[in-house]
Amino acid sequence: FWKQNTPLIEYCETLGINIPHYCYHKNLSISGNCRMCLVELKNSPKPIVSCAMNAKSCLTNGDIYTNSSLVKKARENVLEFLLINHPLDCPICDQGGECDLQDQSLFFGLTKKRFYSFKRVVLNKNIGPIVKTVMTRCIHCTRCVRFAAEIAGIEDIGMFGRGLNSEIGTYVNKLFQSELSGNVIDLCPVGALTSKPYPFTHRSWEFKNVTSIDFSDGFGTPTQLFIKNNHIIRILPGYDRLNHNINWISDKTRFSFDGMFSPEKIIYSFLDNNNKKSFLNLSWQKLFKEFFYTLYFQNHLLKHCYRPYPLIILLNANTSLEVLNLLNVLTRKYSFFKLRRIESQNSNVDLEQNYLLDLNLNNKIGTSDTCWLIGINPRYEGSKLNLRLRSRYLKGNFNIINVGSLFNLTFSNTNITSNTKILKSLIEGNNLFCQEFVNSSNPVLIS
Ligand code: SF4
Ligand code: SF4
Ligand code: FES
Repeated sequence: FWKQNTPLIEYCETLGINIPHYCYHKNLSISGNCRMCLVELKNSPKPIVSCAMNAKSCLTNGDIYTNSSLVKKARENVLEFLLINHPLDCPICDQGGECDLQDQSLFFGLTKKRFYSFKRVVLNKNIGPIVKTVMTRCIHCTRCVRFAAEIAGIEDIGMFGRGLNSEIGTYVNKLFQSELSGNVIDLCPVGALTSKPYPFTHRSWEFKNVTSIDFSDGFGTPTQLFIKNNHIIRILPGYDRLNHNINWISDKTRFSFDGMFSPEKIIYSFLDNNNKKSFLNLSWQKLFKEFFYTLYFQNHLLKHCYRPYPLIILLNANTSLEVLNLLNVLTRKYSFFKLRRIESQNSNVDLEQNYLLDLNLNNKIGTSDTCWLIGINPRYEGSKLNLRLRSRYLKGNFNIINVGSLFNLTFSNTNITSNTKILKSLIEGNNLFCQEFVNSSNPVLIS
């Protein structure tokens, strides 16, 4: 435990002592700019920043006080400065009810006003369709900046300006183009970054919380569903018991419920009314009636030796075996029925191996020094895998060789194009990379 240079704030947390903090986050490095986590160290002339201090060095130097009058006064002062330019937005703020700033104001806030100038104004930024920004609420904790640079690997967000003119933004107008961009909504301790697709829909106390698993890829990422009025309102990352961590989730996972309750979702059956070039909206009952009339008529034609039109039923790969079996019986009975499969899809859920990735992959990547990606883009097909590869890459001594198209994986890799000549040389063992593969230890191949 001590060897990991545990910050004091984290050590206190394991003892059940919660220290208020804004800029500190367990999965992000460098904090120490909000000054909210001040604690008192015996014999130290000033309060110390507990998120930027090593627990071991603090405890060997003297006693720590996390709740003394000096600590309380220090936090009150920090909070007063933070609130100088913070708007009085709580009633219309999406973070209301789960806002760290509200919580701390309750304990350390000053009830009187001592600031009589105008509050500063910061223009909102358009950083994409997922994240809504209200930049006057920003307290400059830089969590979003560190997330973009360290986790997402897209260094698009930064802080510019000094002192009163400090602003979070993208320098030039551009979008935050990351498949993980939605995580900054959770990270932001205040309501500066909130969900753009679902603004003003809920308050945190209205939810029913259900633990679940992400179904959008093969990694079984734990998630939490927040339900209101029998509708899923949001999906947040869940607690990963295997790695004792809160995961990051992709935007696909976060808004995967989007289509389920959308008013645009097609829940009625339609009949192609060809003569009038329109679709007739039918109830299921009427649709089946139409279907049986057609069936009867076609069958009648067949019995009188007329050649009926073929009726084609289109299936996709997710049709269950029971339905397929029934349709098969139907085609045997009525020869004018034809079964056809629509264009092939990859979402084959018949066998576990088709949707569940090797759960031991994490350890395998950890002990390997070479990874071959064959014909995949892990950034969009399994962002969790990409995060794992990136974190392994950042530890060093890890080669990633990508056989396929050239794309930005957020970490450097060697790309071998998938042209037939090169593939042939790889298979025959004449390629330079074959030797590298032979010399590597525990290579991992992902296809
Ligand atoms: Fe209120 Fe928090 Fe929103 Fe600020 S960020 S307006 S304190 S709810
Ligand atoms: Fe922190 Fe939010 Fe401001 Fe980013 S936008 S610096 S996360 S308060
Ligand atoms: Fe320690 Fe911000 S949490 S300085």
